[in-house]
Amino acid sequence: MTPINMSSDTQTLPTERMYDAMRSAPLGDDMLRADPTVNRLEEIAAEKVGKEAALFVPSGTMGNLVALMVHAKPGDEVLLDAESHIYYYEAGSVASVAGLMPRVVGSRRGRLDPDQVAAAVRKRDQHFPVPRVLCLENTHNRSGGCIVPVELQNRLAAVAHERGLAVHLDGARIFDAAVATGLPAAAFTEHVDSVMFCLSKGLSCPAGSVIAGTAAFIEQARLVRKRLGGAMRQAGILAACGVVALETMIERLAEDHTRARRLAEQISTIPGLSVDLESVQTNMVYVDHTGTGLDTDEVLTRLATAGVLASDRAPTHIRLVANRHHGDAEITEAVERIRRAVSD
Ligand SMILES: Cc1ncc(COP(=O)(O)O)c(C=O)c1O
Repeated sequence: MTPINMSSDTQTLPTERMYDAMRSAPLGDDMLRADPTVNRLEEIAAEKVGKEAALFVPSGTMGNLVALMVHAKPGDEVLLDAESHIYYYEAGSVASVAGLMPRVVGSRRGRLDPDQVAAAVRKRDQHFPVPRVLCLENTHNRSGGCIVPVELQNRLAAVAHERGLAVHLDGARIFDAAVATGLPAAAFTEHVDSVMFCLSKGLSCPAGSVIAGTAAFIEQARLVRKRLGGAMRQAGILAACGVVALETMIERLAEDHTRARRLAEQISTIPGLSVDLESVQTNMVYVDHTGTGLDTDEVLTRLATAGVLASDRAPTHIRLVANRHHGDAEITEAVERIRRAVSD
C-alpha cells in the first residue's frame, strides 16, 4: 500500500518542468551575483510581491531570520503572535541567533488585534527594549492555513508604522492567500516593509525561499545572509525550479484548496472526528480527534498504519495538508483509510 502523505505541503516533489529547468539553467557564482538564473528568479519574485528587490535564501526560517536581523539589532524587541511560526517553530532563532527580545501578542485564527498590538508597543524608556518590528503571518500555519484579511493586515501595519516599527510578513504561503481571495500577492505585501515566501511548499520546489523589500533592505539582507552562511554558489540549479514555480504553479494552488475542503467535509462525517469548517480556507485541515478518546500519538500511529501520514497538533488535533500529489482519488482513499483507522 502506498502511503498518502498529507503531513505537509513541504512533502511535494519537483515537477518534470523543474527537472528540465535544472538541467538547462545557465549557472554562475551567486556569491558574486553572477548566477543568471538566481538573478532572474529574484527579479520575477520582486515583481510578484510588488517590491523593489528580492533575495533567494535556502529556507523560510533563514529568510525570516535575515529580515529580522536587518530590521533590528540585538537587544531590540520584536512583536510576535504567540502562535506564529517564527515564535513557535523556528528553534528560538530570534533569541539565540538574532539576539532579539520577543514580545508575544495573542491572536485568533491568525488575526492579531490592532488595539492589542498598539498596547503592546511600549514607549521608549530606558527600562524597556526598543520595539523595532512587528511580524505578521499569512496564511497562518497554526490556525490551519487561515487567511488574514488584507484590510486587517493593513491596519496592523499602520499601527506599527505609526509607532516607528518596521513590519515583516512571514508569507511562507502568501500565494495561497492570494489565490484563495482572488487578490494579487502584491495586495498583501503593499504595506509591509519585508516579506518572506517559500518556494518549497505548495509551489513544489525542492528547496528555497525568497525575501523581498526595498533595494536598500535587500542590500543589507545580502550581508546578513552571508553572515549566516546562506550565500550559495551555483544556486541557479535550485532557483531554476523557483522560476518554474512562479510561472506555472501559483494558480493551481486553488486545486489544493478545493481538495482540502472536500477532505474536511468528508472527515467531518466520521464518528469521533470533527473539523471547524470555517477554518478550512486554504490547503490545510485541522482535525479534532477528541471524540475518539485516543491521544494524538495513537491517532497518528493508527493513520500511518492505515496508510495516511498526518502531522501532530497535540493534544487535540492532527493536521492534514492537501498538495499537488493528491488528486480526487487520493482524497477519497484517504478518507476511507482514516475512517477505518479510527473505527477499529
Ligand atoms: C508560516 C511558515 N513560516 C516559515 C516556515 C519556515 O520554512 P522552512 O521550513 O523553509 O524553514 C514555515 C514552514 O513550514 C511556515 O509554515
